[in-house]
Amino acid sequence: MKKYILVILLSILVFTCKKETKNNRQGLVTKHAMVVSAREEASKIGSVIMKQGGNAFDAMLATDLALAVAYPYAGNLGGGGFMVYRLENGEIGALDYREKAPLAASKNMYLDSLGNVIPNLSTRGALAVGVPGTVAGTFEAHKRFGKLPIETIMKPVIELAKKGVKVTQKQELRIAEKQEDFIIANKEPILFSRAWKENDTIKYNNLAETLTRIMKNGPDEFYKGKTARILAKHIQENGGIITEEDLASYKPKWRKPITFTYDDLNIISMSPPSSGGICLAQIMKMIEPYDLHELGHNSEKAIQIITEAERRAYADRSFYLGDPDFVNIPQEQLITNSYLQDRMKDFSFEKATKSEALAHGKVEIIESNETTHYSIVDAFGNAVAVTTTLNSGFGSKLFCEELGFFLNNEMDDFSSKPGVPNVYGLVGAEANSILPQKRMLSSMTPTIIEKNGKLHMVVGSPGGSTIITSVMQTILNVHEYNSSMQEAVNLPRFHHQWLPDEIRMEPYSFSSKMIHNLEQKGYLINEKDSPIIGKVDAILVLEDGSLEGGADRRGDDEASGF
Ligand code: DON
Repeated sequence: MKKYILVILLSILVFTCKKETKNNRQGLVTKHAMVVSAREEASKIGSVIMKQGGNAFDAMLATDLALAVAYPYAGNLGGGGFMVYRLENGEIGALDYREKAPLAASKNMYLDSLGNVIPNLSTRGALAVGVPGTVAGTFEAHKRFGKLPIETIMKPVIELAKKGVKVTQKQELRIAEKQEDFIIANKEPILFSRAWKENDTIKYNNLAETLTRIMKNGPDEFYKGKTARILAKHIQENGGIITEEDLASYKPKWRKPITFTYDDLNIISMSPPSSGGICLAQIMKMIEPYDLHELGHNSEKAIQIITEAERRAYADRSFYLGDPDFVNIPQEQLITNSYLQDRMKDFSFEKATKSEALAHGKVEIIESNETTHYSIVDAFGNAVAVTTTLNSGFGSKLFCEELGFFLNNEMDDFSSKPGVPNVYGLVGAEANSILPQKRMLSSMTPTIIEKNGKLHMVVGSPGGSTIITSVMQTILNVHEYNSSMQEAVNLPRFHHQWLPDEIRMEPYSFSSKMIHNLEQKGYLINEKDSPIIGKVDAILVLEDGSLEGGADRRGDDEASGF
């Protein structure tokens, strides 16, 4: 009997200890500076640059370019992105280096003669490519805020490309999965047209040469130099419409970020042409009046409130949002308390709202928008949040062998035809229709959070339409449920985007009883289509000023710092 009691006591002890370790699970903690990104190689290069006296913007250029080498699935020279920054003195800002529609693009370019969307045309091959913004954007950020010379920043990246990068297990699977697409999108076999295996090393010699030219000649090399000529020719030879003129006229744009409060947090996020900041603000403002902490993490009621807020925000996204250089967005009105309280007026815990019965809210328009995210905090106290993408994994799958990189398929983020879903199931309206030189609406949500006037968190995620809700759940995990940064990014996630009218849940993460209860209330639950939702990389400033990294367990993500 005594023996049994001892066994029971020991089991309780082991169980409690396990729980403790889990609850206290922290990511890497460093004192001064940190980079958290999708690949260890990229985080390390960014961190080393800061150790050499560089700031967050130097590290941004280094990390971005290193991801283009080490993480060709989403890291890129042939894509675009968004950056939100907060300087050590509290100044904030944002940089838009989103791709643009080519000059020869037109509203119905992906429709057949009957007005139907032609399958795959906006997702695969040369016609899916938007004018890339990454080189212009990362260099622009460096020009304004960087400290170290370009050579110091780029040399380790070029060395990495020459030395090569080890294939991870996840990468082996991704490359194998896309073989057919590579054949369809490219006339000739490409670097990835073979069964690369885990632990193989891929050397990127052509990319190293391209990077060397960019290092010597600056971003003009990519937009007006030899690289531009090779790129435009390659895209056109493969049936695309991007010209040298498109490349020469590309410019990144400094934007004013979206700012809003949630409890005692001041949240700074990306403005249009990303929908990220506005949707994040709308959802968080709609859920703010409820005591989520009291209701419990991922509890039935918490899931209902968040779902209903998400449904309403994504309905607005679909109607109102697009490139602010082309459409009037009622930005201020969409995030006011009164409008958002009104939006939630018909919510009830008893029954799901039906998306078909819910449209965008009424706002007066007054005249007068496979990815990767990284977070950086430097030793001076500056922070940058960057999300960059080729859109789908390996973008359009069109690879320029001579230059050594993939081209995006960002054109699919436009609404090819109002009401017809894109690759993420998102529907759009006129505000996001295609026009020459317009930027396609995005969901990327690089976000920085202040608490008590000080830097608190840097956060962001890939995941298409699920980016916004992944970022939001990570913030809530820390703020409402006291998770560590690592725990906050690891916890299971769910997602609703108005249409399709379903709650997507990561499988094996939510109890069948709760799922049953939600179904009884009229919610459709989909646990099949999203094995993972988002892949968040974030940094939390701890009480003593040190930094905790959250590198998502869902990928090969790593934090590095000192
Ligand atoms: O800009 C956007 O919203 C999309 N092109 C992002 C793509 C993405 O996150 C893919 N990752 N899984």
